[in-house]
Amino acid sequence: MPFFDPLESTFYGHCVERLLTSKDLAPLLADGIVELGPGTGRPVVEALRRSGSRVPITGYELDADSARIANRATARAELGNYTVVQGDFFAATEEPGARQHGDPADGRKAGVVDLPVGPGRDAAARRARCAIGNPPYLPAIARPVGASQLWGGHDGAHVARRVLSQEMDVVLLMIASISDPVGLVRHARAAGYRIADWSVRPIPFGRYSHQPWVSRRIGELARSGRAFFGPEGYLLAGVTWVRGSALAGAAGAADEPDEPDDVATVLRRILTAAGSATSLDESAGVDRTAGARRRVRIASGLHEVPNRPASRLSGSS
Ligand SMILES: C[S@@+](CC[C@H](N)C(=O)[O-])C[C@H]1O[C@@H](n2cnc3c(N)ncnc32)[C@H](O)[C@@H]1O
Repeated sequence: MPFFDPLESTFYGHCVERLLTSKDLAPLLADGIVELGPGTGRPVVEALRRSGSRVPITGYELDADSARIANRATARAELGNYTVVQGDFFAATEEPGARQHGDPADGRKAGVVDLPVGPGRDAAARRARCAIGNPPYLPAIARPVGASQLWGGHDGAHVARRVLSQEMDVVLLMIASISDPVGLVRHARAAGYRIADWSVRPIPFGRYSHQPWVSRRIGELARSGRAFFGPEGYLLAGVTWVRGSALAGAAGAADEPDEPDDVATVLRRILTAAGSATSLDESAGVDRTAGARRRVRIASGLHEVPNRPASRLSGSS
């Protein structure tokens, strides 16, 4: 079923807009961007419209219905530089037989390493030096029924790790505080990335996170220090990483790999301050209506931000 969440998808669109308007990163975007999972296509359509960017973007969407809707949205918007292809992002962007880095045991347990490998990178993927996406991040030991395309492996971060293992120069991904954010930031660092920009906002728990397989797994991850949330929800960050060797002049990109990444430290502190609940049951008494959504606040450890639609913390190095 096509995924569109008014808070999450709109926030993703804002993060893409931030990327498209970055002067520092513009040279690395000029050859095109590949997108994992456009969903309805609306976030990127809106980002392109608002930014006026002419950078070519190719989205790969597994779900046939979503791809059809996204194609309609791109045609209606008459943008000309956003194409959505139905298919597996990894099949289109990885060489056949490419080895996965990261945590193979994790992938094997979650069954994710068995994703089909296609005939090789297609033309758009060969040119692009930037990947973006709001990847599936629901953690569960088994593929959750009714939300299989939102499954991020058993810690929720498997798909994001796989994108960060592709050696793109620039990667913008949404990362969730319930899906091993610390491990993911560490993985990006080990892959040679530094954080150039980030934004973060609260997201209330929805019907997918309340599925028993998912909520149980979130509780387990919280008890082992790999998921952070409060009674009303969790935090979602849009993070732009740049590979150290890619652009010496880009913010934060020229440092040696073993130097501390201060921006990552700040982001880690914020994401782990999302809350210290260990079970979604602790949110049982919380009203999750639209009114409650508007009242959600976050304490970042820096300062408290009210949850107006556009409100979010952000920063760059
Ligand atoms: C969390 S949704 C995000 C949708 C949209 N970007 C948004 O923010 O509204 C993740 C999307 O990725 C798609 N997806 C998951 N794995 C994929 C893969 N390997 N290749 C292409 N699309 C994938 C899903 O079908 C789903 O539409």
